[in-house]
Amino acid sequence: MKIEASGSGQNMQPLLKVENLLKRYAKGSLTGAREELLALDGVSFTIFPGTTLAVVGESGSGKSTLASCLACLESPTTGNIWFEGKDIVKLGERARRQVRPQIQLIFQDPASSLNPRWSVLEILVEPLILQRKFKHEEMKQRANFLLVRVGLSPDIVEQLPTELSGGQRQRLAIARALSLEPKLLILDEALSALDCSVQAQIANLLMELQSSLGMTYLFITHDLAMAAYLADEIAVMNRGRIVEQGPAEKILKQPQHETTLRLLAAVPRITRAALPAVEQ
Ligand SMILES: Nc1ncnc2c1ncn2[C@@H]1O[C@H](COP(=O)(O)OP(=O)(O)OP(=O)(O)O)[C@@H](O)[C@H]1O
Ligand SMILES: [Mg+2]
Repeated sequence: MKIEASGSGQNMQPLLKVENLLKRYAKGSLTGAREELLALDGVSFTIFPGTTLAVVGESGSGKSTLASCLACLESPTTGNIWFEGKDIVKLGERARRQVRPQIQLIFQDPASSLNPRWSVLEILVEPLILQRKFKHEEMKQRANFLLVRVGLSPDIVEQLPTELSGGQRQRLAIARALSLEPKLLILDEALSALDCSVQAQIANLLMELQSSLGMTYLFITHDLAMAAYLADEIAVMNRGRIVEQGPAEKILKQPQHETTLRLLAAVPRITRAALPAVEQ
């Protein structure tokens, strides 16, 4: 667990400030009546540059909906998302296109976001081609640099994602996200499909990238132990609302809400024993 909640200094501007976010979905019902589902019901929080906020919650609590709204994949029904002081909900399409590369989203299953027919090199240079900022040779150099950055060998540039292990694929997804030099990385259950030792390696990579590049993370998970390991702050979601939020250590030591207690109970006892803040 991190000791300091860095970046929450009084004079620092938030990178992201979410205010009263609401997302309503139309839901079909057996009777044919139009029903509505509130996937997000007044979510507010702030993330400071260089810090990690973990959003934890059970299945269906609204975590991925939140991620989609922040990454501009969906529009919230109401509410504000201030990114570096601009409300991205209200931006026009052109201005939003400029903000979008700065907020990158990584999913649980990189296979869904990595084109299986493209080589590692093609996957890494595609965002750069779209940006039209680099010459061909520069792009190749950048791809090699990014691979090394995430602990992969440049020798794999000709391989297809299907030829990589789960951990290698997730490192590649991180490299691809980093290629656009985002300010905020949203990781939606990005470690959940990996086995324990690979999870730990990627978690350490994320922390290393945070200290070397000053990355800011929104780390979405149902795993309270991993949240506590990676995050400065934890927000607990239940039915579209944040029901509890605070420094990671406080959430572990003095959980208040029944959702937090359930998530804590789901942490394997052997892992719980390694968490210094939890009273056994
Ligand atoms: N496109 C959609 N249309 C209708 N309902 C949706 C849509 N996307 C999500 N929902 C509903 O919104 C609620 C929140 O879903 P969401 O995927 O955000 O949960 P989650 O916390 O990410 O769950 P999980 O841990 O299983 O990934 C759920 O009830 C879900 O069925
Ligand atoms: Mg989800």
